[in-house]
Parts: sequence; C-alpha cells; structure tokens
Amino acid sequence: MQIVDLLLAILHHFLVFSLAGILAAELVLVRPGLAGQNLGLLGRIDGAYGGVAMAVVVVGVGRVVFGLKGWEYYVGNHAFWGKMVAFVIVGLLSIRPTMRIIAWRRSGTGAVPQAEILAVRSWIKGEVAFLALVLVFAAAMARGIGA
Ligand code: HEM
Repeated sequence: MQIVDLLLAILHHFLVFSLAGILAAELVLVRPGLAGQNLGLLGRIDGAYGGVAMAVVVVGVGRVVFGLKGWEYYVGNHAFWGKMVAFVIVGLLSIRPTMRIIAWRRSGTGAVPQAEILAVRSWIKGEVAFLALVLVFAAAMARGIGA
C-alpha cells in the first residue's frame, strides 16, 4: 500500500537523521574535561541512541516487508546486504563507547582521563564513517544498483 510505504519512508528518515544527530552530540560531549552534568547527559543520549538504532532496524525491516518494491527486490541486491553489514559494523563499534560511558558514570568522581576520552572519540568517529557508508549503499540499493 502506497500510504504504508510513505509512512515507513518518512519514519525511516526521521530515525536515521536522529541517529546522525545523536552521534554528533556524542562527539561534542566526549571531549577532554568531560565530567558532572555533561556525563549524565551523555549517558542519557547514549541510551537514546540504542533505542533509536533498534527502531531503525524495526522500521527498516518494515520497509523491506511492506515497501512497494517487495522483499525480493532487496534480498537479491548486493547494495542492500552491504548496507546491512555496514550498519552491523556501526553497532559493533558502538559497544566500546557504551561500556566506557557506563563505567565513567558509575565511577562518578571527577573528570574522565584524557586518554580514555580520546580512545572513545576514535570509536565514535569510526561509527560516523560506517554510517556514511550505510547512506552510500542506501542510495545505490534504492536505484537497483547491485541487483
Ligand atoms: C536494519 C536496518 C535497515 C534496513 C532493513 C533498511 C531498509 C531500507 C529500505 C527497504 C529502504 C527503501 C529503499 C527503496 O526505496 O527501495 C531504505 C531506504 C533508505 N535507508 Fe534504510 N534501512 C536500514 C537502516 C538504515 C540506516 C542506519 C540508514 C542511515 C544511516 C538508512 C538510510 C536510508 C536512506 C537514506 C534511504 C533512502 C534511499 C533513497 O531513496 O535514495 N537506512 N532502507
């Protein structure tokens, strides 16, 4: 149904833009000197990131199943699978930052050591790079490239 396809497409875009926004916010917060209120904020933002990422998967699968092109269009398309792999890599790269953020919040005392901040920033930058790759594959698969 066209309306279902449209609504899923709108939701998908809202969610993936939110994901990008959350990663940008994390990069702003994860800087030398991170402590106190900003650490609490970072923890909440990172929690939201997990929720939004899960919603992206649900709505994305919804688009595969209920989208106008039909699921066969996607399962036979290499760009679709490239997109899935790139997105899984984003998820894997996010594990370390999430673990560190939880540990920083638990320890609760003073500023986070600079070396740890810089390491987590590198992981987040990796996530940004693979999210960009997801977008490249998304545009390709939508146009039948990789079929
Ligand atoms: C499990 C995860 C995902 C699934 C199953 C999924 C699935 C889909 C499907 C079925 C479409 C419709 C393509 C078409 O019009 O034929 C689509 C489009 C799109 N997806 Fe995803 N997606 C997922 C995650 C993501 C993520 C994480 C991003 C961004 C970072 C993203 C960005 C896009 C964009 C920008 C489009 C529109 C492409 C265009 O029309 O040019 N998707 N996705």
